[in-house]
Amino acid sequence: MARTVKVAITGAAGQIGYAILPRLASGEVFGHDVRVSLHLLEITPALKALEGVVMELDDCAFPLLDDIVITDQADVAFDGINWGLLIGSKPRGPGMERGDLIKENGPIFVGQGQAMAKAAEDVRVLVVGNPANTNCLIALSHAHAAGVPRDRFHAMTRLDQNRAQAQLAQKAGVKVAEVTNMAIWGNHSATQYPDAENARIGGRPVPDVIGHMAWLREEFIQVVQQRGAAVIDARGLSSAASAANAALDHVVSVESATPEGDWFSSGVYSDGSYGIEEGLMYSVPVRSDGQGSWEVVQGLELSDFAREKIKATEDELKEERSVIADLLA
Ligand code: NAD
Ligand code: LMR
Repeated sequence: MARTVKVAITGAAGQIGYAILPRLASGEVFGHDVRVSLHLLEITPALKALEGVVMELDDCAFPLLDDIVITDQADVAFDGINWGLLIGSKPRGPGMERGDLIKENGPIFVGQGQAMAKAAEDVRVLVVGNPANTNCLIALSHAHAAGVPRDRFHAMTRLDQNRAQAQLAQKAGVKVAEVTNMAIWGNHSATQYPDAENARIGGRPVPDVIGHMAWLREEFIQVVQQRGAAVIDARGLSSAASAANAALDHVVSVESATPEGDWFSSGVYSDGSYGIEEGLMYSVPVRSDGQGSWEVVQGLELSDFAREKIKATEDELKEERSVIADLLA
């Protein structure tokens, strides 16, 4: 065995936790020659349920599962980890927007950002808990104040990317693997802009293949923006299997070199690229070198329509940031 990867999962007894843990332990994410150590964080009342989940992990007899730590202390959970998947937080219910959760969930990410800086040396963090971009900004601000580089923090928009790719594949009648270069711009919210104009199907621009601009600019965007709410309406619970899957896709994309010419979407600390204000966790197309570094894809052409959408979601993120200004370091 080459190495052991330590992964912290917060909210491990929750829905997404239940869907993500067996897949992390199976070897499918880090490779079949890499051991995995799982550090599971929960609030104290959920520790008993978490013990049940751990029993099930034991019963899977995963050969690569090195050890499991369960705790209600963030600094114990984050001790020496390579990845932190920050999922633990309240999900929205029917009729709510994700931003409505900010006052309740935001404070969780203050202590976790601080604990991350103290306990973990060379860590990558993915924030899944909603509202993911702004929660991520809170955690980043505290970790960065204690010396953690900002580029270690990502807010999850991979589920939106996957949803957009699936919609385009269905519309074009192609396999989803044919759809590449899918950029999600902005917030993981109903203002996000899934960018069909720069996406490709079989290497060709999506507008050339689908040729139905009204659909691309209206129904497609709305379906992706509202997909989380549609799942909640249908299931009575927010997405979990697809969210867990997207988080794992994100980890794999960061850990591997991005295929030539392609990109993936992630909410990262904005650096002024594309005129977006600095200091927001804003989803953009990024490429990874597979060695721990990533960069924003530069130079994409944006129509006036796209620029308007990109601005609207930026404005929403600015508004969210102002609501939690007192939680930032
Ligand atoms: P859930 O209610 O099933 O599980 C959440 C778990 O988090 C619970 O077990 C709870 O005890 C735990 N928790 C709460 N506060 C915690 C804390 N301070 N530390 C550790 N654990 C804590 O919810 P879920 O369906 O697993 O969703 C979790 C979050 O992920 C929600 O905020 C949801 O909106 C979000 N989500 C985001 C995306 C995305 O694409 N970014 C997708 C799906 C869900
Ligand atoms: C999703 O997109 O499915 C999640 O963010 C859950 C939600 O509240 O929509």
